[in-house]
Amino acid sequence: MVDRTIIRTTAGAPWVSNQDSKTAGPRGPLLLENYQLLEKLAHQNRERIPERTVHAKGSGAFGTFTVTHDITRFSRASIFSEIGKTTDMLARFSTVAGERGAADAERDVRGFALKFYTDEGNWDLVGNNTPVFFVRDPMKFPDFIHTQKRHPRTNRRSATAMWDFWSLSPESLHQVAILFSDRGLPQGYRFMNGYGSHTFSLWNAQGERFWVKFHFKTQQGHRFWTNDEANAVIGQDRESAQADLYDAIEKGDFPKWTVFIQVMEEAEAERVSFNPFDVTKVWPHADYPLQEVGVMELNRNAVNYFAEIEQASFSPSNIVPGISFSPDRLLQGRLFAYADAHRYRVGTHYESLPVNRPQIAVKNYHMDGPMRFDAPEPGDGGYYEPNSFGGPVEDVASMEPPLRINGDAGYYEHRSDGDDFAQPRALFRMFDAGQRERFFDNIAGAMTGVPAEILERQFALFRQADPEWEAGVRQAVTRIMRGPSSSAPTTQET
Ligand code: NDP
Ligand code: HEM
Repeated sequence: MVDRTIIRTTAGAPWVSNQDSKTAGPRGPLLLENYQLLEKLAHQNRERIPERTVHAKGSGAFGTFTVTHDITRFSRASIFSEIGKTTDMLARFSTVAGERGAADAERDVRGFALKFYTDEGNWDLVGNNTPVFFVRDPMKFPDFIHTQKRHPRTNRRSATAMWDFWSLSPESLHQVAILFSDRGLPQGYRFMNGYGSHTFSLWNAQGERFWVKFHFKTQQGHRFWTNDEANAVIGQDRESAQADLYDAIEKGDFPKWTVFIQVMEEAEAERVSFNPFDVTKVWPHADYPLQEVGVMELNRNAVNYFAEIEQASFSPSNIVPGISFSPDRLLQGRLFAYADAHRYRVGTHYESLPVNRPQIAVKNYHMDGPMRFDAPEPGDGGYYEPNSFGGPVEDVASMEPPLRINGDAGYYEHRSDGDDFAQPRALFRMFDAGQRERFFDNIAGAMTGVPAEILERQFALFRQADPEWEAGVRQAVTRIMRGPSSSAPTTQET
């Protein structure tokens, strides 16, 4: 027999009726003193937190990262300290533009956010399923995201805004190419790679710094939907990627990714012909080969989606000794954005929540504020620093080696830094005939209703990458305009 406990209010009082409210007589009005009803309605009003401004729709799971190859010559991080070492971790995958209720099978970049609960604190790698990004300066990120979200007047996504921004931002072409390739619409989160995308740094016990890129290659293989297939999937199940990940893990079919790094010596960054801190570019494999590090496995579903996935708070600023940032300007901007979003959206002490809490004891001198339920105890020492009562002290031994920088402060034009076309061209030329056909159709299909002058500006960018790319898209646009399913240009917005 089920051992049923009684319902209690949050203050512990017995909940005497959960069917009927307290009224003045059987047909009379409610009594305000029915504090259980007040509590129930008040709690319902507070069941939501603001959704993420980007990457609102997502799925997640817990798992492990296991070291298979020694990289201690590059990093002193404890997570990499010995072959066979296993660290608990959490992954959250997402689409970028849709709201929390958006369908999973939409063409969009996928988020690939990881939290490693290392024995030196949490390391978050908040990446995507693409090795590059649309913009290279954080000043452009909010503008770019506005073009992906709803138009302020129509309240609909705007193809005009997207192509207007992209055609005026040639640095976006590489990521646009990936988005409209087969990999822009994966069948599920198990069937895609993950990338740290930015250049990060590792530093070793001798204080030497290395620049690195992180790669997570799917062991499930790449699988994608065509646009038509995705439309059919969405018609049946808006949670197709959530279902795929959750069901696989429930069945014991645990997804895995092989983890690699590319490495560049610190001084080499000043000699290479390209800017190694530009997130719109990859490091060619031929020059910087992938070096295997370990394996990531997801093997446990969350028990409560809201508590463990919705409230999971990932930030590129969460690093551990031996892993650090780089001068990549977009990464530098992100170091502010995430923890600020969490304090606003989840709460001041969001890192005290079980899913965000490091697996080591944390002591500091932050005080009070909402959600402060694990306040320092008297035995922890002083509540200010320095103090004479045995409070925690700074850890100079964990300071990363100094980075030599130079230059005059100024607003340097990020557009003038390198070639925006060589890498998209290399990608385009890797596509076989079938991939190209789908690529042209995917792009053309997303251009419906866009004013001609914007299309012409974008075609000029395609042409600079490869004349065949431009010609293929032009033909596909013409085909779609003539075809039976073509929609007449929609109302133009500005
Ligand atoms: P390589 O031939 O060594 O590597 C090609 C890479 O392209 C592989 O990592 C492959 O991933 C990936 N790839 C294949 N199809 C697609 C697709 N439709 N969308 C995105 N990636 C795809 O060449 P290079 O290193 O010289 O890079 C050439 C181009 O490949 C780059 O300009 C870039 O666009 C793309 N690329 C490069 C990456 C890098 O880090 N160097 C990473 C990902 C893409 P896989 O091995 O998983 O099949
Ligand atoms: C989510 C900002 C670029 C990957 C977010 C969020 C913000 C943000 C505010 C929501 C955080 C939250 O509310 O919890 C920015 C800014 C960027 C930028 C300002 C550029 C300056 C990038 C890049 C990547 C990326 C380049 C990948 C390489 C993600 C992912 C999430 C996310 C995966 C979802 C994390 C999760 O699952 O909770 N971003 N972002 N972002 N961003 Fe970015």
